[in-house]
Amino acid sequence: MNEIENVYGETVEFYDLSALSQIGNKKIVLNKFADMVKDLDGIILDIGAGTGKTTIEMANMICDKEIIALEPSAYMRTAFMARLMEHNEVKERISLLPIDVGKYSFRDKISGVMCMGVLGHLKRDEQEKLLYKLDKNLNINVPILIELLEPKFLVAPVGSRISVATQGRLRYETYITDIKQVGMDQWTWRLTYKVFCGKNIVSTVDSLMSWNYQSVEKILNQLTKMHFRTAKLSETLLLAIKAR
Ligand SMILES: C[S@@+](CC[C@H](N)C(=O)[O-])C[C@H]1O[C@@H](n2cnc3c(N)ncnc32)[C@H](O)[C@@H]1O
Repeated sequence: MNEIENVYGETVEFYDLSALSQIGNKKIVLNKFADMVKDLDGIILDIGAGTGKTTIEMANMICDKEIIALEPSAYMRTAFMARLMEHNEVKERISLLPIDVGKYSFRDKISGVMCMGVLGHLKRDEQEKLLYKLDKNLNINVPILIELLEPKFLVAPVGSRISVATQGRLRYETYITDIKQVGMDQWTWRLTYKVFCGKNIVSTVDSLMSWNYQSVEKILNQLTKMHFRTAKLSETLLLAIKAR
């Protein structure tokens, strides 16, 4: 098991059902991003593609682009591949690489980068290295779409239920069962997934994760100091465009 599989291992079963950020709310932004990349040369890079929902959505929005998706968790890749096999219309254009973004060579010509829900998993120096590599390797006009964690989750009281969904007879609930600030921008939290059938608990799975939280403003600031024009799209979404 690699390190990220301690977070995205057994819990991947619940990932799509209990995702804190649902794709429906992002469709307009994804469409705008698709418009920006469609006339640029090169692949779309999806960093930390998870179960592939956003990747496949993007592939359907731009019908002639190749997407390279990076995903280090074998559990996430299994869910991604199962989904991809149901999408004949896009599967030939999507390559799912089993790697950490730190290992990506940046040799491909890139027309756009999606980095959705990933930065918080990277340590401070890894985040900085990634932004530096993007600055160095992207051509002018190439956009980066970044999604960050909603800050409200970091101040939610222990015991808060942060998602509930039903599937067939079962009800899936996610709780924050511990949360600690362990450094200036560093947090650890334990999420507990509980599956109920009526009043009975069918299973409980814990997941402990570290999160390096930077606000949208901080990331915008870092990118602006490089060679990007930037825009805050919401409390969790930001866009950066390589300007020079
Ligand atoms: C919150 S999920 C987001 C998944 C997907 N982008 C989405 O929006 O649904 C974060 C993903 O980033 C992946 N990840 C974590 N660290 C990574 C790294 N260093 N390089 C690439 N992916 C990473 C995780 O395995 C996980 O699938």
